[in-house]
Amino acid sequence: MDFMKLVFATGNPGKLREAAEILGEGFELVTPAEVGITEEIPETGSTLRANSLQKADYIYNKTGLDCFADDSGLEVDLLGGAPGVETARYAGPQRDADANMTKLLGEMARREKEAAMARTNGMTTAKATRSARFRTSVTLIVGGQHHFFDGVMEGRIAQERAGEGGFGYDPVFIPEGYNLTNAQLGEEVKNTISHRGKALRAMADYLRG
Ligand code: IMP
Repeated sequence: MDFMKLVFATGNPGKLREAAEILGEGFELVTPAEVGITEEIPETGSTLRANSLQKADYIYNKTGLDCFADDSGLEVDLLGGAPGVETARYAGPQRDADANMTKLLGEMARREKEAAMARTNGMTTAKATRSARFRTSVTLIVGGQHHFFDGVMEGRIAQERAGEGGFGYDPVFIPEGYNLTNAQLGEEVKNTISHRGKALRAMADYLRG
């Protein structure tokens, strides 16, 4: 395969490094800043796919270069699928990971308490569950054509934070088949099972043809 240059719609060096590792040999990833986009790329969609499409389109329309964008979110069943597309800003626009986890654990405790009270009062409630999943939507634009790749990581929300690694909600997310949080598992294991890993490997497989 020829060496392929792609603009990745992120300003986060950690995400850039992670994507480069997942994609492997044969790709050169460049940031929007490196191709002259220094402003914040708009992200105003109401779904993950709409957001990844909006970000990729923004880069393509400005530069005409091959590019991709991702958007991820956490769906918690007890919270009816929240925070979903609001995952990054769950506790407010400052996008603070610690505040987001505090809010998540608090909301889940509140729902569990409400269900327990309802049961005490003789009502039947849905089975208590802490099941959750991360989803990623990737939009790739090559030669002006759009392609979409999705990835899911199933798991559950821990009762409390554990581990130092990772980012975002990693200290409270336990992937299916494990008894440790993402933050305890470490980057290498996480990349093999993560939502983003799956979506980006599917994209790499497609590009390798
Ligand atoms: P983004 O679209 O990749 O920026 O993800 C949106 C938000 O989801 C991030 O700000 C994180 O809070 C959360 N998130 C996405 N992927 C992960 C992950 O792999 N671990 C933990 N949190 C994540």
